[in-house]
Amino acid sequence: MTKQGRQGMFISFEGGDGAGKSTQIHELTEYLRQMGYEVVLTREPGGTPISEAVRGILLDPQNKAMDAVTETLLYAAARAQLVAEVIRPAVNAGRIVICDRFLDSSIAYQAFGRDLGDMVGEINRYGVGDCMPDLTIYLRVDPKAGKARIQGRAADRIESEPDAFHQKVFEGYEEICRRDPARVCAVDAGRGIEEIAEEIRAEVMKRIHEI
Ligand code: TYD
Repeated sequence: MTKQGRQGMFISFEGGDGAGKSTQIHELTEYLRQMGYEVVLTREPGGTPISEAVRGILLDPQNKAMDAVTETLLYAAARAQLVAEVIRPAVNAGRIVICDRFLDSSIAYQAFGRDLGDMVGEINRYGVGDCMPDLTIYLRVDPKAGKARIQGRAADRIESEPDAFHQKVFEGYEEICRRDPARVCAVDAGRGIEEIAEEIRAEVMKRIHEI
C-alpha cells in the first residue's frame, strides 16, 4: 500500500445508469488523496488512448447495427488495454486504482442485459486474467429512479435501451452481489451524497487496513 510501501489496491465502482457513480468516485478520490495515498483514477470503457477510441465506437448512438457479441468483444478489448497499460502497472507500483466500471459492467450489461450468459466471462478471461478488483462498490439504484436522474442529458447508445434492458442489468448486478459478497459491497444509492460517501469511505478504509 502506498503509505506503507506495500502492494496497491484496485477498487471498481459499479451501478446502473444514473446511480451517481461520478459524484461518489470524486468524493472518494479526494478523500484518499488528502489522506496521502497515491490514487490513479480511470474509467471504462476508456482510460487509454486506444480504449477511448473504442469507447467512441461503443457509445455512438449511430451504431445501431452493432451485434451483441461485437459489443462484448469491444468492451473486452478496451478493458484488456486498460489492464495492461494502466491498472496492472499502477497496482504493482503500490498505488490505489479507482476504476469507474470494470468487468462486472460486462456481466450485468452483456451477460444479463443482452442475454449472452457465460460467454462474457470467457471472452474477458484473456484480457483480465487475475487482475480483479480487491473491492467493488456497487451503487444500487432502482432502474426507474436511475432513469429519472439522467433525464435531460443526451443519452448514449446503451442508455437509449428500453426499460426492460435496464431491468435485466439491475438483476444482473444483484446476481453479482450474491455470487461474490466478499468483493462486492452494495450501497443504497437512494440517499444523500454525504451519507453514501461516508459509508464508502468506511468500507475502503477497513479494506486498506486489512491489506
Ligand atoms: P458512461 O458514459 O461511462 O456511463 P456511466 O456514466 O453510466 O458509467 O458509459 C458507459 C456505458 O457503457 C454505460 O451505459 C454502461 C455501458 N457498459 C457496458 O454495457 N458494458 C461494459 O462492459 C462497460 C464497461 C460499460
